[in-house]
Amino acid sequence: MVLDQDIGLNATLFGGDMMSRMDKVAGITASLMSRNRRFLTLKVSELVFHSPVRAGEIIEFYVAVARQGRTSMTLQIEVQVYQPVSDARRAVTSGEFVMVAVDEGQHPEPILWKPEAVQLAAEAHQARSSRA
Ligand SMILES: CC(C)(COP(=O)(O)OP(=O)(O)OC[C@H]1O[C@@H](n2cnc3c(N)ncnc32)[C@H](O)[C@@H]1OP(=O)(O)O)[C@@H](O)C(=O)NCCC(=O)NCCS
Repeated sequence: MVLDQDIGLNATLFGGDMMSRMDKVAGITASLMSRNRRFLTLKVSELVFHSPVRAGEIIEFYVAVARQGRTSMTLQIEVQVYQPVSDARRAVTSGEFVMVAVDEGQHPEPILWKPEAVQLAAEAHQARSSRA
């Protein structure tokens, strides 16, 4: 839910706030997909703000694992506004995040994948894509 306090000068959600939320979602997703303890955001690309978000709107985050690397994973994040009254959704922001697993010294380390979590995410993505 986007609150009044999150709103910027244009009466819509501040872009940096959205980026921060997406970065947190990327970090959480990386942790859910693996047994690694720490991830750092290496790269953010293709970030597009498709539509503004206003106070009171509910936002949903959908994540697809676009690439499974040795020490990194690339996550495609799509953010949508969900309107419960009409059940309608609209795409508001999308972007790609490269997350790197790191050890205590902040050096890249191999990702210990949780295959079942990756499989579940792939199935959810597939189901959503076929509904769209
Ligand atoms: C993340 C970090 C530890 C990676 O260290 P590095 O020495 O650059 O990493 P490497 O060259 O060994 O590459 C690590 C992985 O990133 C990938 N990578 C490196 N540069 C990349 C780029 N420009 N685009 C996409 N992937 C890239 C590599 O392919 C590798 O993945 P793989 O093992 O799956 O193939 C280092 O860049 C860093 O500390 N960056 C700052 C992170 C940060 O402060 N983020 C913001 C706060 S979370």
